[in-house]
Amino acid sequence: MKNKKILIIGVFALFTAGNMNAQKKPYLDKNKTIEQRIDLLLPLMTLEEKVGQMNQYNGFWDVTGPAPKGGNAELKYEHLRKGWVGSMLTVRGVKEVRAVQKIAVEETRLGIPLIIGFDVIHGYKTLSPIPLAEAASWDLDAIKKSAAIAADEASASGINWTFGPNVDITNDARWGRVMEGAGEDPYLGSKIAVARVKGFQGETTADLAKVNTIAACAKHFAAYGYVESGRDYNLVDISNSKLFNTVLPPFKAATQAGVRTFMNSFNLVNGIPATGNVFLQRDILKGKWKFDGFVVSDWASVREMIPHGYAKDGEDAALKAVTAGSDMDMESHLYVAELAKLVKEGKVKEALVDDAVRRILRVKFELGLFDDPYKYCDEKREKATIRNKTNNDGVLDMAKKSIVLLKNDKNLLPLKKSGQKIALIGALANDKNSPLGSWRIAAEDNTAVSVLEGMQQYKDNQLIFEKGADLIVGKATFLDEVVFNTTDKTGFEAAKTAAKNADVVVMVLGEHGFQSGEGRSRTNLDLPGLQQELLEDIYKVNPNIVLVLNNGRPLTIPWAAEHIPAIVEAWHLGTQTGNAVAQVLYGDYNPSGKLPISFPRNVGQVPIYYNNYSTGRPVNVDKNVFWSHFSDVEKTPQFPFGFGLSYTTFDYKKLKLNKTTFAKGEPVQVSVEVTNSGDYDGKEVVQLYIHDDFASIARPVEELKGFELVSLKKGETKTVNFTLTDAELGFFDNNGNYLVEPGTFKLKVGGSSDSGLERGFEIKE
Ligand code: BGC
Repeated sequence: MKNKKILIIGVFALFTAGNMNAQKKPYLDKNKTIEQRIDLLLPLMTLEEKVGQMNQYNGFWDVTGPAPKGGNAELKYEHLRKGWVGSMLTVRGVKEVRAVQKIAVEETRLGIPLIIGFDVIHGYKTLSPIPLAEAASWDLDAIKKSAAIAADEASASGINWTFGPNVDITNDARWGRVMEGAGEDPYLGSKIAVARVKGFQGETTADLAKVNTIAACAKHFAAYGYVESGRDYNLVDISNSKLFNTVLPPFKAATQAGVRTFMNSFNLVNGIPATGNVFLQRDILKGKWKFDGFVVSDWASVREMIPHGYAKDGEDAALKAVTAGSDMDMESHLYVAELAKLVKEGKVKEALVDDAVRRILRVKFELGLFDDPYKYCDEKREKATIRNKTNNDGVLDMAKKSIVLLKNDKNLLPLKKSGQKIALIGALANDKNSPLGSWRIAAEDNTAVSVLEGMQQYKDNQLIFEKGADLIVGKATFLDEVVFNTTDKTGFEAAKTAAKNADVVVMVLGEHGFQSGEGRSRTNLDLPGLQQELLEDIYKVNPNIVLVLNNGRPLTIPWAAEHIPAIVEAWHLGTQTGNAVAQVLYGDYNPSGKLPISFPRNVGQVPIYYNNYSTGRPVNVDKNVFWSHFSDVEKTPQFPFGFGLSYTTFDYKKLKLNKTTFAKGEPVQVSVEVTNSGDYDGKEVVQLYIHDDFASIARPVEELKGFELVSLKKGETKTVNFTLTDAELGFFDNNGNYLVEPGTFKLKVGGSSDSGLERGFEIKE
């Protein structure tokens, strides 16, 4: 009875407190629209509180960029209590998130909740393959699902905003961040951008109110994938044609899919830092594309406009960034230091600040943070979600779909399941950390299933593991350069003996997971350390080798491509790496991945990409030296974009168009028959490319404009249909206007960018 009374009083007290809250804080009234609620809140805010919403601090432990030495946690806490912090990044786990959210909601004057950001790049604690690997699946549903798993885990751990997807197109394998994107193609990149945005956020903005979705962030705006010589943070000097046709489309697609935030980039774009770039952020993003979410700077990119030589000092940097449309300052500490003063001095209009704050508040309202600031802070859910079976099954599925079979001479693969002696060689085969890849700051070290563990599941073969040589010296971390072992070959002999006595040798070689990613540019794309030497030594004693590559970027493997009979591109596949690799090697899963980026023959070919342009001398007509080529290596890539084999084979027949001449605006209907002509059920990515023969601005030799992933049983034939509309047939001129020009086109449909059936058609005015 007594208890009941207390309960009733308690409920009454809560009710009246809530009521009073709604009266004192009218923006808490759920019956009003989000815009009405913002209209009620903004006038209550002091200038300093508004600027506070535009200030983002890291969570005092993980740094993902240069940070003040010794930390300044005290100052950050003080600012948090004053309501001068709108967001925090890298705070994670329900306990930690609740602690900072409590300060924001219960100790500040207006109780505006924090939005909690984190780099959920390819999973949270259960890791899916690195994004480049996922792109190799060309499986948009699987990619969406993978992002949804990541969102589910991250949101269960207090996070409500991811700094992803990275939609940077790049064709430079030297750049370490190539692992974070979807490769070299704007069409594939755009489709994947949409899949990832919807995976994180849900189908519509309304889905953000759910507890298992998080706000996404299209980054890095823009052109960061074109840093000169692939050196991270370097300048970008890019043509308008490349900017409009290649770099911007995935960002635009993300906007159309409803992405709620953007992150700008570290680089100069034709002399102006992206962070201070009015053209990109105001004219295009917020103007032309009508983006109504907010833009966060990259880590300290506001301040970095000073060493770029674009801002005189901190005050100037803050002024230029806010003017250009950067709404939130990540870790430059300059908005919080300079912006209120700039407004008071009349140098920045308060309307600019209001606009930025409105955008930030809008996303917080959409997430439902005002209605329940602790909605992502449920310990029970956290416990039940993190690394649960569903998530592990999900990332295993994604990992298998991401594998690309690059070579399979004499059908060395799939491996026989019994009666075989298999030598497994290479330090990476027994590594439980490296397969997690780069950008996995929430994951616990050594939580991947290694290839050795995966292969041990197949018990009817004899499996012998020898590392051959250690790959790295010391411990690889997110912050430090990976150091490779280049001298100790004492393990070579044991590896050679194991290989000599084996029917088949499986060698797992490539890059360590922390060898790609941010700050990890390389000028040499060969197998690092002693691995090439080990490969050649083993080949001498047993050439029956299956090479399993682990890498976050295209590697140059000309010797292996020539000599090794079977090559499997297994990237960094995340938590379930070993199981995925073993299931593919043993044929329990038939690989269907296709490269989302060209693999060069040597680094001197870089940048190399399939959608390049014809020169005036594309072929050697006169059989002399005066044509566009290299004297020392072919100009084609080692493995082209779109390429990937299967354990079965696919035949293409009957490529048809509904007509050969079309009026402008009329859709072009294409169909093709694809037959599984081999011995296994399988999946094929049917790809459609076009070439516009001549145009007012020359067009690439070919451009992907459609693809479909089809499952075909052994012996089965399916007809695959495509429709080309203006959206596929046009291009952007150098002023960003979209044109569809009459003229003749070529069309190609096949299983790779370098093969297929061809037809021609014409568009008439
Ligand atoms: C990276 C971003 C990342 C941010 C926060 C920066 O160094 O460029 O992609 O989201 O750090 O961790």
